[in-house]
Parts: sequence; structure tokens; C-alpha cells
Amino acid sequence: MNHYNTIIRPDQIQARVNELAKQISSDYEGKNPVLVSLLKGAYIFMADLSRKLTIPHEIDFISISSYRNGSLRSDEIEILNELRCDIGDRDVIIVEGIIDTGHTVSRILKDLESRNARGIRVCTLLNKKSSREIDVPIHYVGFTIPDVFVVGYGLDFMERYRNLAGIAELPEMFDARRSPGGEIKAEEAKESR
Ligand code: IMP
Ligand code: MG
Repeated sequence: MNHYNTIIRPDQIQARVNELAKQISSDYEGKNPVLVSLLKGAYIFMADLSRKLTIPHEIDFISISSYRNGSLRSDEIEILNELRCDIGDRDVIIVEGIIDTGHTVSRILKDLESRNARGIRVCTLLNKKSSREIDVPIHYVGFTIPDVFVVGYGLDFMERYRNLAGIAELPEMFDARRSPGGEIKAEEAKESR
């Protein structure tokens, strides 16, 4: 069953990831940054980006949990695991799949900043600029997209569709956040994002 329309094709993603990797490799020439990715949504982006970087770098992962029942405040977002590497005095790049309200990245930034990194930049594949509720500095953006619910390339709807090679829009009836009367109720869904 196909309930989705592809809005960014796999070849368009790959081309943009190559450009981002080139830019980051040039900006971080001579450095050895730590890429910190948010599980689970950014896992494919992280893998593709990392393989295209021409500079030495390390990778690490954090996962967060939150109740997705409408807007989240940053302090409702819980960090589930600690970083394995010490980011003190390191250059850090947060790698995110999508930034929507901004609360998630804002929370992560606050946490990483308290660990005395030398500098922290944010890289996201997708930016839903128009739904921002909290201002976050973003240095690298793959695509700016409208406020629609998307899946694929690591992003899920109720853990499905992560394996799509492109980015697809789910019609509103399948977006639990927008249709509480739909087949799955968002307020019952505890997400590990
Ligand atoms: P924010 O805290 O509102 O910026 O949300 C960021 C997180 O929400 C992302 O890491 C995703 O897990 C999730 N998210 C936001 N928009 C979408 C979407 O359109 N599709 C899938 N996940 C999304
Ligand atoms: Mg999700």
C-alpha cells in the first residue's frame, strides 16, 4: 500500500549530502570533529555523510525520549544515553534528520554546551523552518521543507518507513499529531526518537 508521495528523490538526497560533506570537509580542514547523531531518525544521514567526509572525524550517538503529544518543551525531552567520547575541547557537529519545532536540538545543544566543547555546529538534512517554536542556530541544512509530516531516509511514522530511500510526505490522515481521531492516537505513542 502506498500512502505517500515522494517529495525528495534518492538521487537528490545523495547530491545534497555530497555538497554538505564537501562544505564540512572544507570548513573543518585540519580538524578532527566529533559528529553526534540523534537516534534513531538520523542514522542513515549520519552514515552517508560520514562516508563522504574527507577529513578525519569521530562519530557518536545519543538517543532521546519524549512524549509526542503536541508541542514539547525542551525540559520534557530526556536524554537516554551518555556520549561515549569526551567532547571537552572538541569541535562537535550535531547531525539531525529533521528540525521541526527546534525543541529537540535546543535540548541537545544545552546538554553538549555544558560539556565544554570548543565549538558546536548543527547539521540537519531537513529544516521545517515555518514550524519553529524556539530559535536554534543551524549551520548546515540539506533541504528546507514546508510543515508537512515526512518519512523515509531514517525518519519514521510509528517506526515505519525509515527504509525508504527518498523523503515522502504522509497524507494528513496518517499523521497522528494532526488527526487525533485517526487510526492511531498520538497521545498513546511513547516515541524513542
Ligand atoms: P522538534 O523537537 O520539534 O524539532 O522535532 C524534532 C524531532 O521530531 C525529529 O528528530 C523527529 O524525530 C521528529 N519529527 C519532526 N517532524 C517530523 C516529520 O515530519 N517526520 C518524522 N519525524 C519528525
Ligand atoms: Mg520518530
